[in-house]
Amino acid sequence: PVDPFTLVVFGATGDLARRKLLPAMLHRDIAGQLPSAARIIGVARRDLGRDGYREMARQSVKGVDAAGTLDAFIERIDYVAADAGDEKGWDGLAALIAERPDDTVVFYLATSPDLFVPIAEKIGAHGLAQARARIVLEKPIGKNAASALTVNEGIGAVFPEASIYRIDHYLGKETVQNLMALRFGNALFEPLWNSSHIDNVQITVAEELGVEGRAGYYDTAGAMRDMVQNHMLQLLCLVAMEPPSSMKADPVRDEKLKVLKALKRVDASNAGQVTVRGQYRAGASAGGAVPGYLDELGTASGTETFVALKAEIGNWRWAGVPFYLRTGKRLPCRVSEIVVTFRQVPHSVFEGETPQPNRLLIRLQPDEGIKLYLMIKDPGPGGMRLKHVSLDMSFAAAFGVRNPDAYERLILDTVRGNQTLFMRRDEVEAAWAWVDPIIEAWQASSEPPKSYTAGTWGPSSAIALVERDGRSWAEAD
Ligand code: BG6
Repeated sequence: PVDPFTLVVFGATGDLARRKLLPAMLHRDIAGQLPSAARIIGVARRDLGRDGYREMARQSVKGVDAAGTLDAFIERIDYVAADAGDEKGWDGLAALIAERPDDTVVFYLATSPDLFVPIAEKIGAHGLAQARARIVLEKPIGKNAASALTVNEGIGAVFPEASIYRIDHYLGKETVQNLMALRFGNALFEPLWNSSHIDNVQITVAEELGVEGRAGYYDTAGAMRDMVQNHMLQLLCLVAMEPPSSMKADPVRDEKLKVLKALKRVDASNAGQVTVRGQYRAGASAGGAVPGYLDELGTASGTETFVALKAEIGNWRWAGVPFYLRTGKRLPCRVSEIVVTFRQVPHSVFEGETPQPNRLLIRLQPDEGIKLYLMIKDPGPGGMRLKHVSLDMSFAAAFGVRNPDAYERLILDTVRGNQTLFMRRDEVEAAWAWVDPIIEAWQASSEPPKSYTAGTWGPSSAIALVERDGRSWAEAD
């Protein structure tokens, strides 16, 4: 178990707290990782009372097979009705926290981002930002570089950077951490991990779902701010970064930052060539007919629900290697994967046969695993015919254990004080500095996003983006 802690969840009645945080904590409890003194204090505006919130929590974790642990878990939960905008509830919260002076206190802000600074200020004003306190922020941190700076300054006025945990839940995914194990735990890949041997890298995060009742938030963000600025760029960093000197937080984050800073600028001068934005119209998913984005939103909007782009990293390792990124809602299936395509052999010794390039596929979800595509001889007496086959490592088949949700790992890391899987302030700001000129170029252009039918792989120009370079998107298999 980790050290005794108090987890204070602001926004305790919201979607994130109920869908992710409470079940994550219960899973860790079942696994025996919560010390007996660990507790959770939910904070939200509603006057629910402790019993009311406990009931809500019970409903939220219904899907977890908790057997004998559930009642004890619910006993850990307390509730305070408080508001960032006034004094109501804050003395009560301070008193509850003071009951356990030796606890690590984690303030988790699962709220709307405009409450981050007001809540942090209240925490500070009530003397709760002591040495053992940490603050956890969900994305989005701002909606551009300037607003991210304001949030970072506001939080930084109350907490030191070493106590600020900016969550990008993709970093908590098992397979994303596996990417680091693969790169830095094997001698095999590193000598080949550069522009001399790699032809291109593709990162796809496709979702089958639409905006699912979040159209209000989503319309102010779009796929670029919702997915590319954070999850996609973090994945790109993990693929592209230099080996850090250790897995400690700063060596890892220093290397990621260098990648972000080396990204070649995309702005109005080239955004038309290297970016594509799309918006889904009505179509079909596996479950049947689905409405278009504008029908769900109920109003006109130029917000993108799909982005494809070609990023380039201006350094020795990656010069000339395109990183093709694509993400979108209402695509044919839910799949997140990184595909590294190596260069072709320089000359084919097999008459009439061109060996296909080796490919390393890292599947983040749904069926987590790693595949390495190699050429072999097609078995049989028919002569030397080549075949592209994969060495497969499916995590489910290999380990047969439940894959913990990203939040399980990340929340406990905040208690342990391990910031490796969290974004440092300068990373967030550097990511915005790259994304802002793209969004500005889109806003300045008179072209709306290209529409695509729900259930397809986005607008045809996303395919053209890659085909123009003589390549194609690796098909999800
Ligand atoms: C969130 C985005 O950060 O990530 C959502 O706000 C998106 O729009 C989600 O659906 C995807 O996460 P996952 O873990 O389901 O791939």
